[in-house]
Amino acid sequence: MRPTSLLRWLPLLLALVMVFGDATALAQDNGREPLTIGFSQVGSESDWRTAFTEITLAEAERRGINLIFSNAENSQENQIAALRSFVEQSVDAIMLAPVIETGWAPILQEIQAAGIPVVIIDRNVTADDSLYLTRISSDFVFEGRLAAAWLAQATSGNCKIVELQGTVGSSAARDREIGFNEVISLFPNMEIIVSQTADFRRAMGREVMASILHTENPSEICAVWSHNDDMAIGAIEAIKAAGLDPGDDILIVSVDAIPDIFLAMMNGDANATVELSPYMAGPAFDAIEAYLRGEPVPKWIPVNAGIYLPDTAAEEYARRKR
Ligand code: AHR
Repeated sequence: MRPTSLLRWLPLLLALVMVFGDATALAQDNGREPLTIGFSQVGSESDWRTAFTEITLAEAERRGINLIFSNAENSQENQIAALRSFVEQSVDAIMLAPVIETGWAPILQEIQAAGIPVVIIDRNVTADDSLYLTRISSDFVFEGRLAAAWLAQATSGNCKIVELQGTVGSSAARDREIGFNEVISLFPNMEIIVSQTADFRRAMGREVMASILHTENPSEICAVWSHNDDMAIGAIEAIKAAGLDPGDDILIVSVDAIPDIFLAMMNGDANATVELSPYMAGPAFDAIEAYLRGEPVPKWIPVNAGIYLPDTAAEEYARRKR
């Protein structure tokens, strides 16, 4: 073929190469078996947890990942049984959202012996980080510091505080408490007068706060610091039932940034929430896929936190409601 005629055909040839090249890549990609990932979730104790689950299931479907989901109903025993079942099913990877931080080393060693990578997601474990691929999470200590810093400036460093703690033994409760106490310890007139767990649950937050309002002098309570929005909303209901004005008589600061806390802000019942992103599945699936491609994965992949106040509550509610 003369050079001039070849040149005339070149654009078509290049187009064909690109089309078939992409098609081959696509076929290889589509030809690949879909990943099967086992996900052991804490439970459904809060609106944030439910949103985290829904978003994770949707992201798996979007990516064509076969996600085997297990809701442990807040039981470590159930989580360990689910993890063993994932190993028996020879999944490609495991995601664990641990209900509490201790007691995981033996099962993580079993999983490692089976050659299955584990991603810790949301709360932490005390087991050595050689036993898992990476952790996707927020910095819970920072969340506590941010909540305390807001309260200090809102009260000029003068506040007697009721603390509603999350699940006993969970890293979220422990680290938020550490961060909050670090900051208020800088202010001689800021003090936690009562601290009690309500297990991250709304109904329990209401019961515990109602009890505290009976045992303490309500006029002495300046604020409620709640480790999550659900317990804060329960506390708001109890404060109202006691004839007091939440958000004014008693300030409300919490964590999660769920839609209902923005509704409370719009009603003048809550004052500040620190966001905990429920969008952790994407980074988790990316880390697993990078590992399976033989690429390095960092031991911690953070999701960021920020604080939200009543001035943007209406737009945040509109943006987040599900
Ligand atoms: O581990 C994160 C915490 O667990 C969230 O703040 C809370 O809503 C959930 O129960």
